[in-house]
Formats: sequence, structure tokens, C-alpha cells
Amino acid sequence: MTVAVSSAVSNGYKVVVAASTGNTAASAAAYASRGGLRSYIILPKGKVAMGKLAQSILYGATIIEIESNFDVAMSSVMRLYKEHRVVYPLNSFNPWRLEGQKTIAFEIVEELGVPDNVIVPVGNAGNIYAIWKGFNELYEAGRIDRVPRMIGVQAEGAAPIAKAVEKSLDQPEFLDNPETVATAIRIGKPVNWKKALKAIKLSKGSAITASDNEILEAQKELARIDGIGAEPASAAALAGYKKLLSSGKISEDETTVIVLTGHALKDPDVMIKADARRILVNPEHLDKLILGDLGL
Ligand SMILES: Cc1ncc(COP(=O)(O)O)c(C=O)c1O
Repeated sequence: MTVAVSSAVSNGYKVVVAASTGNTAASAAAYASRGGLRSYIILPKGKVAMGKLAQSILYGATIIEIESNFDVAMSSVMRLYKEHRVVYPLNSFNPWRLEGQKTIAFEIVEELGVPDNVIVPVGNAGNIYAIWKGFNELYEAGRIDRVPRMIGVQAEGAAPIAKAVEKSLDQPEFLDNPETVATAIRIGKPVNWKKALKAIKLSKGSAITASDNEILEAQKELARIDGIGAEPASAAALAGYKKLLSSGKISEDETTVIVLTGHALKDPDVMIKADARRILVNPEHLDKLILGDLGL
């Protein structure tokens, strides 16, 4: 986002706009403030997680809600830009977003070398392409000797790219009403679908789906085994990894990077609904309760 906002500033724009499932909104609002720009954020009403909305409000964006989904918000932003050109768009059809996101590949190479697989949650499909582009540029510059397989994971109810890969289609069948608990990837018409299919094909990767249950289980596992809190869209990548392991499509011996794209606090509502052990107790009975619970 900082690359795209810098581009807005250097091109003399005073106002930026972004359609968003929430995270783009939060970072657009933050960097726009830092760059001295006004920001307009277009959100699908009622489908944006609380932590993301709260950030956009804090950073001073004008929040415009629509009674529709992200895809409609996105096409409205594209139309606004095409017809008026006075407001700079910060969505991932703007190539500067992808130039920034590709540095994820540089960081992976710096810290780990070249993994066998990189697994990424896919919504609008900017990340998966951008990360592949980063690896590919390092490869073409002779800095690395191979490019990892790029594997995308989509939620079952919002999976045009994964289904296109599964059915070997040249073009995804878009969805008018995508649905998933992972609101960040609740996208039926990914703008970067062509680029994503290219990245998957050229890297000999793939794309798969994860159900909402698998996503929420992966979110809990990540938190309760590794102590890492990630929002559902991110946990989709771990859910995908587990499915690929159990079907034998990848093995534990391979090096696999799972990109966790968003912190758990972005979506507190989902966390609070998780199966918590919450017990109301009179403080005098605390010892009895815990010792009893421990069987002592
Ligand atoms: C947390 C999170 N993960 C994944 C994605 C999907 O990224 P992309 O749209 O580049 O596929 C998003 C997009 O908003 C996101 O917010």
C-alpha cells in the first residue's frame, strides 16, 4: 500500500479511493493520512470485520457503504477511475500495489532461501500473482535457481479460481453471490484472475478450496498449537496445506511457506464465537473449581 500511495503523491493526486473487504481499506486510510491525502473507502455493508472498519474510521477515511458485495464496490471504483481520473485507485488492479506485494517473495528468499511451495489465501488474486512475480524476477536476475510452486486457497463458497484450476478452465466461472466466514476473501469476480492463473501455471502450482469449517478449525489450530492469531482468510491457507498433506499432494519433507495475511484481532466477532471455555464463578470457589478441573 505504501508503494501505491507514494505513486498517488508523486503523480500529484490529492484524493485516493479503494473498494475493500476491509484490510485494503485500513491500510489505504493509514497511508493516505501519512501522505496528506483524502481517502474514500467503499465497503460492502455488514460484511466487513470490526477491527478493519475501526481502523479505517480511526485513520480518518470517508466510509461509503453499499448494499451489495465487494465485486460491485470494485467495479464502481474502476468505473470512477476510468471516467474521471481525479481520484487515484488503491486496489490491486493498480500495478503499484502488486509491485509492493511482490517484496513478500524477497523477504522469503532473504530469510529462508527458495521454498518448494508457497501457499496463499486468494480473494482478488493480487497476492498470489505478486509473490510469484517477485520470485520470477529474482530467478530472471540469476539470484535464485528456481521458482516455488504457487498454491492458492479459496473458501468453498467463493472459489472461482480454485474451481477453474480444478476443471482446467481457461477462464473462471464468476459468482454473483460469494459467501464465506472469511470475509477478506469473499470475492466472486477476482480482478487479477488472469495473472493468478498465469502464476499458478508457470510455477506448476495449483489452487484448492477449504470449507468454512476447515478454515475455522485451522484458525484454532494455529492459535492453540502455535500461538499465532490469524484472521479466517489467512487460516484458509493452513486449511489448504492440511488438505494437501493428507491427500499426499505435498509432503512434510518439502519446505512450504504459508503466508498469513491478516491478524486475528481484525475479526474479533469470529474469535468470540469460537468454542471457548468461559466459566462464571464466585471468587471464593476459584480454588475448588481449578483444582477440581485438574482432578486434584
Ligand atoms: C487477510 C487477507 N487475506 C487474503 C486476501 C486476499 O488477497 P488477494 O485479494 O490479493 O487475493 C485479502 C484481501 O483483502 C485479505 O485481506
